Amino acid sequence: MFRIAILLSGAHGRGSTLINLADACQDGRIPDAGIAAVIGTVSSSPAIQRAAAYGLPVRVIPPKGDDYGVRLRDALVSAEPDLVCLAGYMRRTPQEVLDAFPSRIVNIHPALLPSFGGQGMYGEHVHKAVYEAGVKVTGCTVHFIDSGYDTGPILLQKTVEINDGDMPDAIAARVLVAEHAAYPEAVRLIAEGRVKLHGRRVAVLRG
Ligand code: GRF
Repeated sequence: MFRIAILLSGAHGRGSTLINLADACQDGRIPDAGIAAVIGTVSSSPAIQRAAAYGLPVRVIPPKGDDYGVRLRDALVSAEPDLVCLAGYMRRTPQEVLDAFPSRIVNIHPALLPSFGGQGMYGEHVHKAVYEAGVKVTGCTVHFIDSGYDTGPILLQKTVEINDGDMPDAIAARVLVAEHAAYPEAVRLIAEGRVKLHGRRVAVLRG
């Protein structure tokens, strides 16, 4: 089984990304895979509650103290994941975690990076910025994680057209549909060994 660990933070997330990945393991969109751990920072988070109700193995690691990175790394290592998927993890990934899982941590961002990314650019802030910029196309990006915000090598992107009159909420809703297709697709490519990193460029071997 290809073991996936999911990481999220705060109490703002809905948990749709993690539930979608769990569903994808169940319904065959990601074959022979399972969720080995869901790790959050706040037990009252709706996303954590949803994960627990789904029957997923949940842990909460509060991001307090200098040893947060070590505690998070140790919790992840004990889950023995093949891949770590961020699903609403709004913090910089601790260096200890990056060192323990080189090129094995991915994230999904609700815009076409490198546009509309960086610290503070999350959730509705992204879609508002996209709306205000007047761009005609947005989308989502699955990328590997490095020590920056939204700066790691890009694995997969899906585009979403913006129609005249689309307000940020409408843009967000359509991007979320694209995200829920893109993330399982990207994880499946990794699980099948079809993703090769060459510096900042990511090659996907076609099946
Ligand atoms: C998603 O939009 C994803 O792009 C971003 O965080 C959001 C999490 O949404 N990284 P949800 O809480 O999983 O519904």
